[in-house]
Amino acid sequence: MKKNIIFFLAFLLATLRLTADEGMWIPLYLEQFNEQQMQEMGMKISAADIYNENNVSMKDAIVMFGGGCTGELISSEGLLLTNYHCGYRYVQQHSALEHDYLTTGFWAMSRKEELPNPELKVTFLIRMEDVTEQVLKNVADGTPQSARDSIIKVNIKTIKVEATEGTHYEAAVVPFYFGNQYFLFVNEIFTDVRLVGAPPSNIGKFGGDTDNWMWPRHTGDFALFRIYADKENKPADYSEENVPYKPKKYFEISLDGIQEDDFTFVFGYPARTNQYLPSYAIEETVDVTNPIRIDIRTKRLSIMEEAMNSDPKIRIQYSAKHANAANGWKKWQGENKGIRRVSGIAQKRIFESEFQEWADENPDRQAKYGTLLSDFQDNYETQRDYQIAYTYFTEAISSIELLRFAERFQPLVELCSKETPDTEKINEELKELKWQVANFYKDYYHPIDRKIAEAGLKAYLTNVSPEFTPLCLMDAGKRDLNDFVNNLFNRTVLLDQSKITALLNTFDPEQKKTRDNLIKEIEKDAAYQLITAAKTFIDASVVARLKTLTANNTRLQQLYIKAQMEMLPERRFYPDANFTLRVAYGNVKGFQPADAVTYHYFTTLDGIMEKENPEVYDYVVEPKLKQLYYDKDYGRYGADDGSMRVAFVATNHTTGGNSGSPVLNADGHLIGINFDRCWEGTMSDLMYDPVVCRNISLDIRYCLFIIDKFAGATHLIEEMTIVQ
Ligand code: ARG
Ligand code: ASP
Repeated sequence: MKKNIIFFLAFLLATLRLTADEGMWIPLYLEQFNEQQMQEMGMKISAADIYNENNVSMKDAIVMFGGGCTGELISSEGLLLTNYHCGYRYVQQHSALEHDYLTTGFWAMSRKEELPNPELKVTFLIRMEDVTEQVLKNVADGTPQSARDSIIKVNIKTIKVEATEGTHYEAAVVPFYFGNQYFLFVNEIFTDVRLVGAPPSNIGKFGGDTDNWMWPRHTGDFALFRIYADKENKPADYSEENVPYKPKKYFEISLDGIQEDDFTFVFGYPARTNQYLPSYAIEETVDVTNPIRIDIRTKRLSIMEEAMNSDPKIRIQYSAKHANAANGWKKWQGENKGIRRVSGIAQKRIFESEFQEWADENPDRQAKYGTLLSDFQDNYETQRDYQIAYTYFTEAISSIELLRFAERFQPLVELCSKETPDTEKINEELKELKWQVANFYKDYYHPIDRKIAEAGLKAYLTNVSPEFTPLCLMDAGKRDLNDFVNNLFNRTVLLDQSKITALLNTFDPEQKKTRDNLIKEIEKDAAYQLITAAKTFIDASVVARLKTLTANNTRLQQLYIKAQMEMLPERRFYPDANFTLRVAYGNVKGFQPADAVTYHYFTTLDGIMEKENPEVYDYVVEPKLKQLYYDKDYGRYGADDGSMRVAFVATNHTTGGNSGSPVLNADGHLIGINFDRCWEGTMSDLMYDPVVCRNISLDIRYCLFIIDKFAGATHLIEEMTIVQ
């Protein structure tokens, strides 16, 4: 029996090692490593069409949107497409009661109506280059870690300066394979990016958190922006004089749609994956940190939901906070289930015993790699209690809104406490703080926060050892928690909006008296005292130690992946996602998430009508959309079978940050926008399983249908190049 299980696991391991679909590939090496396979899978274009530094290529039509999403150019006039959830905060910032764009949607009917977003920037990649040799110059095998780090730092600085000299470009040098390789990225950053169009949230967020991470999906998750440049087509901060940016390249859009098994690829900015971790790390995530985070968020979310369901005003105030907390909460549950389903930890263990055998085969290897795994094991064992304390602290204590808000005053207090205060810096900080303070009160409902505080403190005090519990929290543990929380919330001045607003409005950075007054008022506040004391304690007794342990792990990881490459020379190791531009490719494909359940590869507008529920905010269907459905008025966007396609799934390996990425067909035409993954496959950040890992994309035809037929923004359609 046991033998059978081992055999089964070994088989699973072999199938999981690397399939055609797995991987997020470096664009620079597509020709060398992927082109042939991509073409065998059906691609009709060449790698040079996708990435080419000397000629225009698709990469010139891709941006990192803000700090964490992807966007693509779809017209010669700088029109940019991304996800609704990526543009959500900008739509929200432009919304007010008298023009609530979240509810009504927003469509600029002329260029003049497009709305600037001072906080938003988009980044184009100009070129990338392997700079490993330069980065590691003067670093030898035996160089001690701290010396190594500082040499690398100096080298990187030089590389960046040289790469951007005489240009308006910016450079970044990023480690790959835990620092076995380094790449230089030269970027062009545009800062005048305006909101052009967004559907109402009951289209852009249809299904809300209930449908999030799930298939079948019916979310119209798209929004439109436009990049503006100066008269020379160069980046410039917002100005009325700016003109629409003329991109080197934009995507042509195909209305041909997709069939099962069609080749597709996704080109964008995946943020973080961890494919090469040892079993001990997976164990930590699955058995230690994920359960803590899930448990605390379950409580937090249910407290929010109860209040949100009781009052529409609270629902609006907490919708973004709820969505944020729920996004991770749901993903981690899917991840844990997925890892368990494929016996992920056991699989890694089997690989590790093979690895150990290989390492022990000769003395040279044994000297280099023989203790790697046991070092990992020791490190993760030592780390465990620190990790528990840190996870509880971030999830249960730092998530108390009052405390986070209190902490927000610390930079200003510190700036004011300097012997010769820098008034310019103070003014900048003040401006930012005032803005955040206004937002805080607008969206704050203290009864929710009190309940969350009580639940969080209880969780911390019952689960974290006293050794890692700040004194001020120990005090709470000695009392009735409800009393403690009420006392804190009743005493703090930070919840007195008029007092705090007045304090900031009358604050004059030039005057010592008002500076001192601010310091005094804030420093004596109970909430401020609690969080600053707790943070100081956690930083010193938990975070500092964790940093050292993480650095150890990175060093081990650097060696471990190098060794794996030596051990399996035939295997292609794609680097973990690290916020740099990548290509993933695969096929359109349904899947079987569970015994006896089969998922089809696309959804239609019929499904939106099936899910419709006027009583539930996330499932309201606009009358206009219903009318179009009843009339089957789909124009040229309907599928051959007469349906209106909404979303589809494929085997492209994607992660957070890939949201908004273009999904392209064999001809390199835009057929969809990536926006999510299926729940059963969220484990793909740690281990990709071709059986259940699917990316979810919006069918471009639904997007154009909404722009054209629903919103009547035909002028935008006219800007695009549509091929059929
Ligand atoms: N799951 C999507 C991704 O990770 C986010 C979708 C946002 N929508 C939501 N209802 N939370 O980014
Ligand atoms: N929804 C994610 C994003 O916003 C995509 C994913 O995790 O698959 O990037």
